Amino acid sequence: MSEDIINEILELKKQRNAVIVAHNYQVDEVQKIADILGDSFALSRYCASSPHETIVFCGVHFMAESAKILSPQKTVLLPEINAGCPMADMVNAEDIRQLRKIYPNAAVVCYINTTAEVKAECEICCTSSNAVQVIRSLKEKDIIFVPDMNLGNYIARMVPEKNMIIWNGFCITHHRVTSDDVLNARAVHPDALVLVHPECRPDVVDMADFVGSTKQIMDFGAKSEGRKFIIGTEMGVLFRLREDNPDKEFYLLSQGLICPNMKRTKLISVYNALKEMKHRIEIEDSILIRAKSSLDRMMQVV
Ligand code: 13P
Ligand code: SF4
Repeated sequence: MSEDIINEILELKKQRNAVIVAHNYQVDEVQKIADILGDSFALSRYCASSPHETIVFCGVHFMAESAKILSPQKTVLLPEINAGCPMADMVNAEDIRQLRKIYPNAAVVCYINTTAEVKAECEICCTSSNAVQVIRSLKEKDIIFVPDMNLGNYIARMVPEKNMIIWNGFCITHHRVTSDDVLNARAVHPDALVLVHPECRPDVVDMADFVGSTKQIMDFGAKSEGRKFIIGTEMGVLFRLREDNPDKEFYLLSQGLICPNMKRTKLISVYNALKEMKHRIEIEDSILIRAKSSLDRMMQVV
């Protein structure tokens, strides 16, 4: 059955001149058929330069939107239209306009986990892999950062010369992890290194040996001399880590590290997306142009 679907997907992909890109949190079966796998930044960069007419984006809504913003002339499909990011919905465009009134001298930086409308209101965008460089590149001292308070606090500590005004959004999946989870995991695997995503709480980040984006965590696991790792990000990264590093051991920091929205997309969703050319991401021109400038500025910095 799955062989049949895979063959049909490959055939449709040729017919549609399509590429399948997948985020590192996707289910294993989707990761296996993806042409490109990566973190938010790597996937954005790829979509901006991809030669294909159609991009099937296996991830969540803001990621497919970012692909469309960067490649407006292409057809971008999100296989599961209800795959959203709850954190991206914790701030809206009006919130940014209000913040600007309160802090007129501040630059507004949005995490890529935001809607196109929010990106359109901001000076520059960032991802978890380049947030510190992006903030350091700005001339303003006051920085409004939305929506993730945990990433915002992490940046504030890495760039103490800036005055960070941080929105109070959070990722329900990463925010669930506690310092007790780290203590318990270290007690079970005392010789393992702890690698966490900056969307985790500050006390969890403080206890980690390495902090980075999903791709940075995967690169660290591959290159490190260490043999055992406790992984503090969504469980999807375990698939490639284990496949690519069979001589190493990877343990999930907490069983709560699962993003239900990332798990919505299955092989059948990808097949339906290509067969019916759905769900097309469309963004109003006036928003797209302004959102693109905040993503383009990020690409110029890193
Ligand atoms: P990355 O940019 O590290 O892939 O993270 C995206 C995300 O949604 C993390 O929860
Ligand atoms: Fe959003 Fe968190 Fe899921 Fe990432 S893991 S997509 S931040 S809800």
